[in-house]
Amino acid sequence: MDGIADLRDRYLNEIGGAADEATLENVRLAALGKKGEVSLLMRSLGKMSPEERKTAGPALNALKNTLNDAITEAKDRLAAAALDARLATEWADVTLGARPSRQGSVHPISQVTEEVTTIFADLGFSVAEGPQIETDFYNFDALNISPEHPARQEMDTFYMARAEGSNAAPNVLRTHTSPVQIRHLEAHGTPCRVIAPGRVYRSDYDQTHTPMFHQIEGLAIDRDINMANLKWVLEEFFSAFFGTSVKTRFRSSYFPFTEPSAEVDIQCEWVDGQVRVGQGDDWLEVLGSGMVHPKVLKAAGVDPNEWQGFAFGMGIDRIAMLKYGIPDLRAFFDSDLRWLRHYGFGALDVPTLRGGV
Ligand code: DAH
Repeated sequence: MDGIADLRDRYLNEIGGAADEATLENVRLAALGKKGEVSLLMRSLGKMSPEERKTAGPALNALKNTLNDAITEAKDRLAAAALDARLATEWADVTLGARPSRQGSVHPISQVTEEVTTIFADLGFSVAEGPQIETDFYNFDALNISPEHPARQEMDTFYMARAEGSNAAPNVLRTHTSPVQIRHLEAHGTPCRVIAPGRVYRSDYDQTHTPMFHQIEGLAIDRDINMANLKWVLEEFFSAFFGTSVKTRFRSSYFPFTEPSAEVDIQCEWVDGQVRVGQGDDWLEVLGSGMVHPKVLKAAGVDPNEWQGFAFGMGIDRIAMLKYGIPDLRAFFDSDLRWLRHYGFGALDVPTLRGGV
């Protein structure tokens, strides 16, 4: 059967020349598919005489096997070549650095609040909290600020809207963290040592004032706490916070909720327009403080004949500006990414505190 030899040579040629798997599949269908040339020949075996079939049968079977083997081999070859081609083009350079991902930063207010809290925790103070929308009673009355007291006007209070027809004193956005003193004493009684960091609000806006800012309140009540304890605690605090020994100066002052009252300055020096805390003989005012007024203790349900103690209130934003050399308070709240990247802290930054408090 010369025809079979021709068929074999032709198809082996085509199989060998197929440049890709699709062409190879077409060759396979043309030869061995249902209507392929070899398949049709095999079907014609039935019409042959037994004599003819004897030689044609094995020859066709052999042809079929030869072509099948050649196709399988060609398939493997083409698949390997295709893989080589992909490997050659689709390579990855595993030595490249990772793509930089945008990282957030810790806002200086958060960082400083954390630092202050850590230092006072070492001094035995825990953290108390109160609401930012406060009642007239807690923000003013309980702190011995009567309705006609000038402090109410001085604080440029934001008042909340009242329910229609209500004659009650409107709630306020708390103007200071001092109301937390009352709330804490009411809830937990005496003795106490707490600080209360948080947001406060006053209608004021310039380089050193924003309508929202942050304070930290301190309160220590026991049977025999005095001003000397206050001075020691504050000096320990400032020295730890600024990382250098810091002197304080107490100036006699007036607050309705303390008696006696003192404004506290920290030692500093101005060098080329920059302030350096803890050296020189200038002073910078940083907080208000005093011995808690007996009327305030009474308002919080504490007997002033048995208990006494100190309180202080300090601007967090202000001490953050001092420690980290930030010139404008308003920038704290502008959400300018360049500012945040410059002054922000990494999540794992360890605060620069002086140890050993
Ligand atoms: N609440 C005062 C203010 O916002 C600060 C203050 C002064 C707080 C004296 C105190 C204090 O606890 O004893 O201006």
